[in-house]
Amino acid sequence: MLILVTGGTGYIGSHTVLALLDAGYEVLIADNYINSKPEALRRVRKLSGQDVPFALCDLRDEAATDALFAAHPDIEAVIHFAGLKAVGESVHKPFLYYDNNLKSTLNLLNAMQKYGVHAFVFSSSATVYGDPVSLPIREDAPLHVASPYGRTKLMIEEMLRDIAQADPAFRVSLLRYFNPVGAHPSGLIGEDPNGIPNNLMPFIAQVAVGKLDRLPIYGDDYDTPDGTGVRDYIHVCDLAEGHVAALKALTAPGVYTFNLGTGLGYSVFDIVHEYERACGHPIAYAMKPRRAGDVASCYADPSQARDTLHWEAKRDLAQMCEDSWNFQRNNPDGYNDD
Ligand code: NAD
Ligand code: UD1
Repeated sequence: MLILVTGGTGYIGSHTVLALLDAGYEVLIADNYINSKPEALRRVRKLSGQDVPFALCDLRDEAATDALFAAHPDIEAVIHFAGLKAVGESVHKPFLYYDNNLKSTLNLLNAMQKYGVHAFVFSSSATVYGDPVSLPIREDAPLHVASPYGRTKLMIEEMLRDIAQADPAFRVSLLRYFNPVGAHPSGLIGEDPNGIPNNLMPFIAQVAVGKLDRLPIYGDDYDTPDGTGVRDYIHVCDLAEGHVAALKALTAPGVYTFNLGTGLGYSVFDIVHEYERACGHPIAYAMKPRRAGDVASCYADPSQARDTLHWEAKRDLAQMCEDSWNFQRNNPDGYNDD
């Protein structure tokens, strides 16, 4: 069974491609390398021992997206990771985010309908819950987005509901990720952000390896056990396996929504201390004011994925930090594609 993985050379996509190949699926990756590097593809091929097919394709290009399906009539399902994801950047460049994330998805869905492909797994985000009304967060919690990035996720979710209602052949899984971290245990693939990382664990990793001086901790006066923000960190390999489970379960028409998280909340200090254990030395930090748009606590009720997809996150925080450190230590400059 051939699965088209858009954004398959990115952070979560590359790990998911390996999980799909492990589960016996065939994979075709489509990416335009706007936020990834050819070295990621080389490493996926090396780790899998397979010459995984790749199409250099900007999904904003309607004709190119159509041509992808025309050239691969055996595509049976699509996992759609391709998109821009930096919340702060989306506030300054909303047009870029609406243009890229919405146009790509529309072109993809249009081609799917034309070529009779109806199984779709979408990368949504816990960002659609905004400041949660209650914890842990269930899938039926009220939705509220605070950035253009978040709005693209919510708009695509709504678009998919409309499309699936109009065309009952569509089978759609909306996966709301909590905070993906960690790396493949081989240390060959992992997260390789451009510039200074926005997110906590890649920032800590770069402090640990000596590329950055100290971690800014944004706020110690939240209503949480130690005053710092609490999040549901999930190992990227668990997340990747969640996609395989979602794909397998996508047998009936309709739209299905799942939180992919562990259900456990850890504070910024919890992460710093666990990372110190992993790398074997202290992480320098400095307290800073709260970051605009941050919430105090956010963690999933993952029971729907457990009960329906028969999937559960297995890797603990120690493993997340060890695997992140293993990748960072082996690749201090990321994929350093030259
Ligand atoms: P990533 O940036 O590493 O991967 C996204 C990939 O999509 C990149 O390889 C990029 O080159 C590609 N891409 C972007 N626009 C494209 C286009 N127009 N045509 C073709 N390829 C394009 O990001 P990631 O962390 O792997 O995230 C994957 C998906 O999951 C994204 O949709 C993101 O919004 C979502 N998500 C990520 C997180 C997270 O913390 N990483 C959390 C929630 C949701
Ligand atoms: C961020 C995005 C969210 C996205 C998620 C997935 C924002 C406001 N939110 O979530 O939309 O779905 O990533 O990746 O960008 N922290 C520090 N110092 C740092 C970085 C982070 O103290 O240098 C703290 C934050 O204040 C937060 C926690 O660490 O309490 C986690 O932050 P981060 O990794 O950026 O993830 P989120 O903010 O949860």
